[in-house]
Amino acid sequence: MIRLGVNIDHVATLRNARGGTEPDPLAAAFAAIEGGADGITMHLREDRRHIRDDDLARVRASIALPLNMEMAATAEMVEIACRTKPHACCIVPERREEVTTEGGLDAAGQQAALAPMVARLREAGIRVSLFIDPDPAQLRAAASLGVPVIELHTGTYANGAAGELARLEQAARLAAELGLELHAGHGLTLGNVGPVAQLPGLRELNIGHSIVADAILVGLPEAVRRMRAAMDAASAGEGSSVA
Ligand code: PXP
Repeated sequence: MIRLGVNIDHVATLRNARGGTEPDPLAAAFAAIEGGADGITMHLREDRRHIRDDDLARVRASIALPLNMEMAATAEMVEIACRTKPHACCIVPERREEVTTEGGLDAAGQQAALAPMVARLREAGIRVSLFIDPDPAQLRAAASLGVPVIELHTGTYANGAAGELARLEQAARLAAELGLELHAGHGLTLGNVGPVAQLPGLRELNIGHSIVADAILVGLPEAVRRMRAAMDAASAGEGSSVA
């Protein structure tokens, strides 16, 4: 079964809109777990626009399921990760002016800078993943950096780009050849998750915005249950969506 990591960043976005304490990302983590999440994902951005250091620490201290910390490749984030010791870290590119993570990490171009950070995280016992586009050069760079996992950026697919599903499928096959565990995420919804859930060898999806958006209408446990059902139906070959 494909694991579902529920990204709770946008619960914090909503909280921060009024500067108070509600909704609480920790309560959201518990609600996501109630709905069948296999793990919780949180992106501690350099500008702290949604998740804050204290949110990460509270969730780390309170849930038994794996915590996946998304982070930029900076010395500050590596320090926080080594202190927090999440189950996994997914290294993402980050630009302050972007609304969300807009593309994959340039693992090929930044290999020299990434190598010591990857080594440090791995020494701390953290499973490292790189968030990359479905580009063979990026997959090869990830393999040569020695990370066990890659997460393929599905944002271009979600935007409807022609040929992008085929690129994801080719990347999935290459990941298997290179011995990389395959995860994917970004922009996935009940309506488009099916073909991604059918990628060969896929082990985990990380989904945030769409689940949190649905949660406003149906509640977070139910929104997670619906996404799980859509993923499971697709991976069992029952079609691409329950939407
Ligand atoms: N995976 C990674 C690495 C991400 O950066 C994000 C967005 O924070 C997601 C998955 C989830 O994307 P979305 O919120 O569009 O589902």
